[in-house]
Amino acid sequence: MSEPLRLGIAGLGTVGTGVVKIIRQKANLLASRAGRPVVITAVSARSRDKDRGINIGDYAWEDDPVTLATRDDVDVFVELMGGSDGPAKAATEAAIAAGKDVVTANKAMLAHHGQALAEAAEAVGRVIRFEAAVAGGIPVIKALTEGLAGNEMTRVMGVMNGTCNYILTRMQNADLTYDQAFAEADGLGYLEADPTLDVGGIDAGHKLALLSSIAFGTQVNFDGVELEGIGEITIEDIHQAADMGFRIKLLGVAQLTGRGLEQRMSPCLVPSDSPLGQLEGGTNMVVLEGDHVGQIVLRGAGAGEGPTASAVMGDVMDIARGIRPSTFGKPAVALEAAKPAKGATPAPYYLRMKLQDKPGALAKIATVLGEAGVSIDRMRQYGHEDTSAPVLIVTHKTQRRTLDEALEAMAQTDVLLGRPVALRIESV
Ligand SMILES: NC(=O)c1ccc[n+]([C@@H]2O[C@H](COP(=O)([O-])OP(=O)(O)OC[C@H]3O[C@@H](n4cnc5c(N)ncnc54)[C@H](OP(=O)(O)O)[C@@H]3O)[C@@H](O)[C@H]2O)c1
Repeated sequence: MSEPLRLGIAGLGTVGTGVVKIIRQKANLLASRAGRPVVITAVSARSRDKDRGINIGDYAWEDDPVTLATRDDVDVFVELMGGSDGPAKAATEAAIAAGKDVVTANKAMLAHHGQALAEAAEAVGRVIRFEAAVAGGIPVIKALTEGLAGNEMTRVMGVMNGTCNYILTRMQNADLTYDQAFAEADGLGYLEADPTLDVGGIDAGHKLALLSSIAFGTQVNFDGVELEGIGEITIEDIHQAADMGFRIKLLGVAQLTGRGLEQRMSPCLVPSDSPLGQLEGGTNMVVLEGDHVGQIVLRGAGAGEGPTASAVMGDVMDIARGIRPSTFGKPAVALEAAKPAKGATPAPYYLRMKLQDKPGALAKIATVLGEAGVSIDRMRQYGHEDTSAPVLIVTHKTQRRTLDEALEAMAQTDVLLGRPVALRIESV
């Protein structure tokens, strides 16, 4: 059997521990599949003494991940610490400079520095692999770069933050308010230390930026992702959407249009009977659309020790077998700068608002919408309150910019109470 592939693993938390377990438990299987042993030579984390439920005594220890990344007995630097900058970036750069391949699960680092890191790695003939960074255990990067390599991708979509999907599903199924469902998710340890990374759509936005780079051959452009979180969604929205045959999902959509690259991560209405609409709990789903293949739906665990370590190992095994694709599916220097689309593709919108309960209020709003060029598909009042009347409107397809102008004009009337909720109805 050939020379072993030697790993240096920095980060022994949820994912790192999972990777060590797989390598210890499945050594023979991995070696027989790769045609060479896959071994760990050195590890690093913050605390050497922490009980991690795994035996790390067989491996050399480094306090500094940069030192680990540059050791002579490390072929592949496995970065599982996290963070867009700091030690993760410093150690990844050091590993590349020292001629190591890199496997990482770090979407934040790649969303911000992916282009520079990929160019640096490819300039010295090294690879950076990051299957675990996008939708956890779902092998979506492999699907795009290998199985679908003969297609031009037309659209990629996904529910890629399990925590948000858990919160929205609990609101739907257990009739919880947003705050109650958020507290439940927090109690279960589902939220990041900074919860806005989850509920603000940032974590899922990082994943979408990576996915769209691979799908459309453009440089990663996280700043070009229109981000909107789920914090404004109320139980009323969940109920009203359900009555009309929709579910609300934090949905990422990327598509290349004549007007540029559209990247949106926002709460959307999707049909209840669609695969995305039926996705429950913390599960992830990625929908890929190619010109020849049509639509492909991938579903699975987007986080957690086993699924994420599974994706890391897929990348490690490729390197062990000598499979060395470009970081983003084509050489980094050939990736075109993404031109963000000005405005999203037109779509119908769901609007929920409260009006003063007085004659003519609804007619005034309908007039404002009409004058702005937004036509109404459905409109109804529901659940009359003392001084206010909740109103639901579904528009025909319109530009978001046109809708925003209409919302602005509505705010100038004397009948609108508070700010309307406006959610896109995505055709899936
Ligand atoms: N958890 C998931 O389900 C999941 C899913 C997809 C992607 N990811 C990504 O995978 C990466 C790791 O996530 P995780 O959940 O495993 O994180 P985690 O449980 O918080 O573990 C982080 C590990 O990094 C170590 N670390 C932090 N700073 C360090 C430093 N300066 N020097 C050396 N070691 C340091 C920590 O050491 P100590 O243990 O000593 O504190 C810990 O072992 C992140 O990029 C994350 O976004 C995670």
